[in-house]
Amino acid sequence: MTRRAGPDDDLLLVLHELRNPLVGIDAAARVLATELNGHPATPRARSIASEARHMLALLERVSEAMAISARTVRSVRRPIDLAQVVRETAAGFQRGREIVVSCPSAPVMVRADAGRIRQVLANLLTNAAQYSPAEAPIELTLRARGARATVSVRDQGPGIPARERSQLFRKFARLSTAGETRGSGLGLYICKAIIDEHGGTIGYKEKTFSFTIPLQRSSGSRSRPRR
Ligand SMILES: Nc1ncnc2c1ncn2[C@@H]1O[C@H](COP(=O)(O)OP(=O)(O)O)[C@@H](O)[C@H]1O
Ligand SMILES: [Mg+2]
Repeated sequence: MTRRAGPDDDLLLVLHELRNPLVGIDAAARVLATELNGHPATPRARSIASEARHMLALLERVSEAMAISARTVRSVRRPIDLAQVVRETAAGFQRGREIVVSCPSAPVMVRADAGRIRQVLANLLTNAAQYSPAEAPIELTLRARGARATVSVRDQGPGIPARERSQLFRKFARLSTAGETRGSGLGLYICKAIIDEHGGTIGYKEKTFSFTIPLQRSSGSRSRPRR
């Protein structure tokens, strides 16, 4: 089925077209910013490389947020062990930060898109690392209680002022805690869209971001499994 092109489609197309030359600039700038035959790269070359990388990341975020708003991306949900996803994401998080993981050893089964859940977790861990002191550990916790699994990421940063919290999950939200850091303000917006799609909730309190996902009913339950 074809969809009628709307303004968003045009914009997505432009973003897509911008990406190709930028990929080229990024690749070339990386070469320029590398030490060659013992000659260190100039600060200008390094700056071009860093700006190109930033633009590329921004473009990707904006395209993804738009696609999510337009509902052209869908999660593919299947039974997964959330405990395994949590442990693997923490183990693969390469930011030189200590992550204290607390997670049941038994499987925590949910119907979810593992790639999307990893993306949410990576976003929350990246924020925790970005907005809290480098030496402070990040706590990552998974609990299964009642009908829901809850994943929490707690950091030891300054915390988000109460008056700003209503903006947290909005598009392009960059709050006072962002300071001089760079970002798109789209990470949490994307997280919320993904968790909403999974029938869960996401929120913040006491320096902790938490999201829930409904637990998969055990096969012994009377209701028929959904496709
Ligand atoms: N763990 C955190 N501690 C303090 N502030 C945070 C944290 N996570 C997010 N924020 C605030 O929320 C804003 C939006 O976060 P996000 O959507 O990930 O966008 P970005 O990180 O690109 O700015 C950030 O700019 C920051 O001000
Ligand atoms: Mg972020």
